[in-house]
Amino acid sequence: MDGNLRAMIREAADYLRSNGVTEPDTGVILGTGLNGYSDRIEDPVVIPYAEIPHMSPGKVEGHRGQLIYGRHKGKKVVILAGRYHYYESGDIVLTSFPARVLVELGIKRLIITNASGCVNESWKAGQLMLISDHINLTGQNPLIGANLDEYGPRFPDMTYTYDPELRSKIRKKASEAGIELTEGVYTMMTGPSFETPAEIRMVRIIGGDAVGMSSVPEAIIASHSGLEVVGISLLTNMAAGVLDQPLTAEEVTEAGRKAEAEFSRVMDIAIEI
Ligand code: HPA
Repeated sequence: MDGNLRAMIREAADYLRSNGVTEPDTGVILGTGLNGYSDRIEDPVVIPYAEIPHMSPGKVEGHRGQLIYGRHKGKKVVILAGRYHYYESGDIVLTSFPARVLVELGIKRLIITNASGCVNESWKAGQLMLISDHINLTGQNPLIGANLDEYGPRFPDMTYTYDPELRSKIRKKASEAGIELTEGVYTMMTGPSFETPAEIRMVRIIGGDAVGMSSVPEAIIASHSGLEVVGISLLTNMAAGVLDQPLTAEEVTEAGRKAEAEFSRVMDIAIEI
């Protein structure tokens, strides 16, 4: 895929442009159980992934598999309601392709959202966390292979990926709106098995506050091109071993439904600011 990756990204972006997705300001990737946020877009252009060249339709419960484009909070927003996860194929290029297409469309900011397990024992399930940094435990990187120089450098800096100034503005607005928004380090595992209690203890020791199976590939792609990145995690459950009970995929989607209102308010802030 590497040799013609550039052409494939262009083909997907050209298709979207010719269907009205023009000069978006902000890209949004919605996580598991959080796809309902896309209903807020005014006069939306809705394009199923199946129509977009080279875009793999994800099949995960709680994901719609649609691109939605329109105005919201004074911005032109393109939303990916449905994420293709690394664990679906083990192909990191496929996983990060949608983010590459958003970059090609010319967005200035990428807002990445996810459902994740809460590793930090002083927090509770149902809370929202702004991502301050990440730890990539997948052993993978979406930039492996020939570097596409027109998008960014071979060795991109990751120091300010989650822009500190932007984060502090978002947290201030959220706090003014009475929303509890913590901040912490997101750790990506490949999944699809949830972690073991021992793995969660390790994540805590190395500095992770949340654990999930996504987001890092997209953050790396956006950072490579110098975009502003905002990461928002809904902590759907306490991570494995914190409580003496098993984890289920149902509690993840259920938590998404419960937190929808607060999540949407934080999203509105992250788009508007
Ligand atoms: N672990 C990994 N991914 C997740 C979790 C979890 O506990 N919850 C939601 N996504």
